Amino acid sequence: MEDARITVPMIQQFKDHGRKITMLTAYDATMARLVDAAGIDIVLCGDSLGNVILGYENTLPVTLDMMVHHTAAVARGARRALLIADLPFMSYQTSLEDAVRAAGRLIQEGGAQAVKLEGGSPYIQDVVRRLVEIGIPVMGHLGWTPQFVNAMGKASVRGRTRDSAQEILDQARGLQDAGAFAIVLEVTPERLANLITDTLTLPIIGIGAGPGCDGQVLVSYDMLGMDETQTFRHVKRYTDAGRQIFQAFERYRDDVMKGAFPERRHSFAMDEDELAGLDEGS
Ligand code: KIV
Repeated sequence: MEDARITVPMIQQFKDHGRKITMLTAYDATMARLVDAAGIDIVLCGDSLGNVILGYENTLPVTLDMMVHHTAAVARGARRALLIADLPFMSYQTSLEDAVRAAGRLIQEGGAQAVKLEGGSPYIQDVVRRLVEIGIPVMGHLGWTPQFVNAMGKASVRGRTRDSAQEILDQARGLQDAGAFAIVLEVTPERLANLITDTLTLPIIGIGAGPGCDGQVLVSYDMLGMDETQTFRHVKRYTDAGRQIFQAFERYRDDVMKGAFPERRHSFAMDEDELAGLDEGS
């Protein structure tokens, strides 16, 4: 029998029972099926698809239509994991109404069970309150927040000074009070992450925030080593999929060139009489 689908309330129960929460990104049905089958709790259709799938420099060009399209694909692959979709840049910053419509599309058309958004300002807290009020669970995202790349500059550790750490702590508390069910904390000093994790009651999912968080998330393409040129301190590479795929492509090219593929076992037979009966024309 299939395991029961992970729900938002279960994520809170995991924290309450001290059970670590696992989360990975996926952007298509095949990857989602693998993440799901591996028993990962949360599959995130992240706007990091802008970088890893679509080849953009950052996540800003990712549109709501793109997110809906990819989230629906992930939904077709994931059966058990909780499916969260990122609200992309400019889909929730303009007004509460836009935020509701955007989140609604990710739930209705994409099949997500919850949405994630970045930042923790009073306006963002209002967005969270409004979405939660109408039954859309929200995951926050603080620390390094890629949609703020033009304001923050390049990716770097956030919360190293007392003021910036205080701001992250206050915003985390604000998101919790607004009803967020969890927060992703990205590239933040370990001791600050521990303090937030221990102080707040909602689950904190770290990425580059140390082992003390309630759970961990990684971009699947990073932990699979799909791009050898990308090295991030916070990422552990579990395989070198990029190299393996590249080598497979090379072997295929060589096989085709020298006639070693396809072999007889990859081909299909035909009855001799049927073949003999063919009119080959003049
Ligand atoms: O878009 C994304 O993949 C994310 C993760 C890094 C948490 O937000």
